[in-house]
Amino acid sequence: METQQPKTMEDPKNRQTDACKAGPAVDAELARAIMARQFHPPVIGPEVWEGYVFSGLEILIKESTDLYGAVLWPSAMVLCHFLENNRDKYNLLDKNVIELGAGTGLVTIVSSLLGAKVTSTDLPDVLGNLQYNVTRNTKGRCKYTPLVTELIWGQELNQRFPRATHRFDYILAADVVYAHPYLQELMDTFEYLCQENTQILWAMRFRLDPENSFVDRFRQRFHLEELYSLPSLSIKLYRAWRRDGTTKDLREAAKH
Ligand SMILES: C[S@@+](CC[C@H](N)C(=O)[O-])C[C@H]1O[C@@H](n2cnc3c(N)ncnc32)[C@H](O)[C@@H]1O
Repeated sequence: METQQPKTMEDPKNRQTDACKAGPAVDAELARAIMARQFHPPVIGPEVWEGYVFSGLEILIKESTDLYGAVLWPSAMVLCHFLENNRDKYNLLDKNVIELGAGTGLVTIVSSLLGAKVTSTDLPDVLGNLQYNVTRNTKGRCKYTPLVTELIWGQELNQRFPRATHRFDYILAADVVYAHPYLQELMDTFEYLCQENTQILWAMRFRLDPENSFVDRFRQRFHLEELYSLPSLSIKLYRAWRRDGTTKDLREAAKH
């Protein structure tokens, strides 16, 4: 599998990009642009559908209100908007990508439309609806057919995703940190899947204290860079990579 190097070489603890330093005007404009991606399709039947526009294409997502992972969370739109607008720095073409807690599948779908080879994962109960949405929106539109498969955080990672053969360029996650009892397992999963040269792009809605302390604990294990901060949506987007990883940039720098 091909890999991509993390893009910066210093340890930017709490480093912020211009997008998150720029203040309320940028927040409001960015939030408006992100929310404008959503439209409400005409009622098709008893099911709840949501519409989104990414990559110049309409994406129709079937939700179901009885499961957590079966409704779309706004962090997913933030992550998709970022990926589409930052293709120069985060080019997904031909990259190996895994999404954790994919839910209704928007991030998987947009990443696939942007040319990535995506492994889309979630709990077993969610996979039927996820597969439906992914197939409906990617069939005949993507270079690679996304793989939808079970990944329960912290379980059977060695057996199901051997590290020698499962090297991911990107781990994507939207709104997987909230008050659930599997935060440690989620942390372990990030740690297991994130190899040298893997980048994590993770959008998170801030709600309660446990989520904030997760970020602190995460920072102890990974380099963490804030890419977007959207107070009006209570969402932040982070990029992270291994603390013990050596980037190509660093190796190159060491030669000179
Ligand atoms: C709040 S939803 C976010 C869904 C989607 N990423 C989005 O932004 O629309 C959280 C997702 O994490 C999944 N999830 C929760 N606990 C999990 C676990 N222990 N292992 C794997 N996935 C889990 C849920 O099924 C759900 O799809």
